[in-house]
Amino acid sequence: MASTIGQHPLTASGFGLEMSGLDLADLSDQVRAQVLDAFHASGGLILIRGQGHIKPGHLRDFSALFGTLEYNEKYNPDFLVPNYPEILRIGNTKENGEYNALFIQADPLPLLWHTDDSFRDPQPIGSCLFCVHTPPEGGETGFAGMAAAYEALSDEVKMRIDGLKTVHSYHHLNEILRRKNPHRPPLSEDLRRQHPPITRPLVAQHPVTGRKSLYLPLCHIESVVDLSEDESRELLTDLQTHATQPPFTYMHAWQPGDLVLWDNRCALHAPTPFDDTRHLRLMYRLTVNGQQIVGF
Ligand SMILES: [Fe+2]
Repeated sequence: MASTIGQHPLTASGFGLEMSGLDLADLSDQVRAQVLDAFHASGGLILIRGQGHIKPGHLRDFSALFGTLEYNEKYNPDFLVPNYPEILRIGNTKENGEYNALFIQADPLPLLWHTDDSFRDPQPIGSCLFCVHTPPEGGETGFAGMAAAYEALSDEVKMRIDGLKTVHSYHHLNEILRRKNPHRPPLSEDLRRQHPPITRPLVAQHPVTGRKSLYLPLCHIESVVDLSEDESRELLTDLQTHATQPPFTYMHAWQPGDLVLWDNRCALHAPTPFDDTRHLRLMYRLTVNGQQIVGF
């Protein structure tokens, strides 16, 4: 079976790999090792299509290859797949008139490029998304490869930014979201205490591959240490503009049975909206914990 597995890059820079010839309901140890190698070689994004036949247990076992799975204790238990607390339903599906999935409507442009929960320590290292039902249009997910983007910078820019530290803050993200959604409440004092601002490197090293990446969830970063507010914003915006150009980005239009796994340590992602008044979308999400970026 190993000889039938194919891989092809999803972007011109080599970031992202689509793997074919895999059946996630029937994985040998050898194939598991190949998938893990591909995940690291991809710069933090693998796509596997055609898995509509797999059961929740297969999804759980596959995701557990990459680290320790979260049990989603902070979410409404009605949003979890029965008997599989590792699997959170995301979407706008309902049961008896109530949402049975976590529904977060994405904003239209500009895309909110981010890496999940970088303001937490430890940060979840990645997520698996599996498509159950997709709207006919919208609801895509963008991905951007931060190692490829870093490597494409000039030596001059690399020298300027290597060693810089940034301050990540949940409060900062919440205030950005509040600008677009005025009804969203400010972060409570409790949450602000639980998630104080933390310092992160602007250039992070991957703990497994050793590759350096831009660590750039702009919407979480309130400042660059030792730079003025204007300098910080200009530098971060320029870097994000560079890092989200086509050679480093891939926009995935979902089909049922598609599975994507990304690495929060070296990839950004961004949701796009869909018309939830007319269409249904349902995804399964699993969150992976593990070795943290180097440089923190
Ligand atoms: Fe996210």
